[in-house]
Amino acid sequence: MTARRYLGVPLLLAGLAGVGCKKDDGVAEAMNGARLLTEAYRDALQGKLTSALNDEGPAAAIRVCNVEAPAIGAKVLGGQREGWMIQRTALRVRNPANAPNEWQRRGLEALQERIERGTAPAAAEWHEVEEGALRYMRAIPLGGMCTLCHGDPESIPQEVKDELARLYPEDRAVGFSEGELRGAFVVTVPLGTR
Ligand code: HEC
Repeated sequence: MTARRYLGVPLLLAGLAGVGCKKDDGVAEAMNGARLLTEAYRDALQGKLTSALNDEGPAAAIRVCNVEAPAIGAKVLGGQREGWMIQRTALRVRNPANAPNEWQRRGLEALQERIERGTAPAAAEWHEVEEGALRYMRAIPLGGMCTLCHGDPESIPQEVKDELARLYPEDRAVGFSEGELRGAFVVTVPLGTR
């Protein structure tokens, strides 16, 4: 008897949450989607990079980072997520087109701070909800193989240095050590459009 009477309350609340367009609507769901997307992008990029490094060497693998990265991003998005966007940014960039905007810079600084306070670099996340969208960022720590192109300039192979100098005369993305915050994935998800 009582069980049946109370059953209506959660159902009613669930119904109201769906009707009233509250600010939090869909944020948790969008966060989950953003996380999954980021991980898929990270794994796809690393997979391509590793096989290019093994098969063709570091100078040829530069192609994966500059030409193929956006295409891989588009592929993991799969054209199904209307208005979503995924990209990479950093406080010190190789490609000026990846430079952070105002909120991305804030996100990067927050990630750096979280890592300094003890969050594991690979797990550090930041988000905010602004202008009807979720802005999600996830730290990218420098892995061992990344030092080939982002590490101490002394240890970068000469052919890689030459190719980087040719393509990126303003390159600031060298001198990183393993485990250091290299940059972040950025995902934006429009909210409340359904
Ligand atoms: C073969 C050389 C090479 C390797 C290895 C490499 N990168 Fe890069 N990386 C590049 C190039 C080239 C760019 C510039 C891409 C562009 O034009 O957008 C880049 C850009 C980036 C960016 C975007 C921000 C910026 O500086 O423009 C991040 C973040 C990044 N790399 C992280 C990594 C991480 C993490 C690894 C290891 C998993 C890695 N890279 C390994 C060459 C490399």
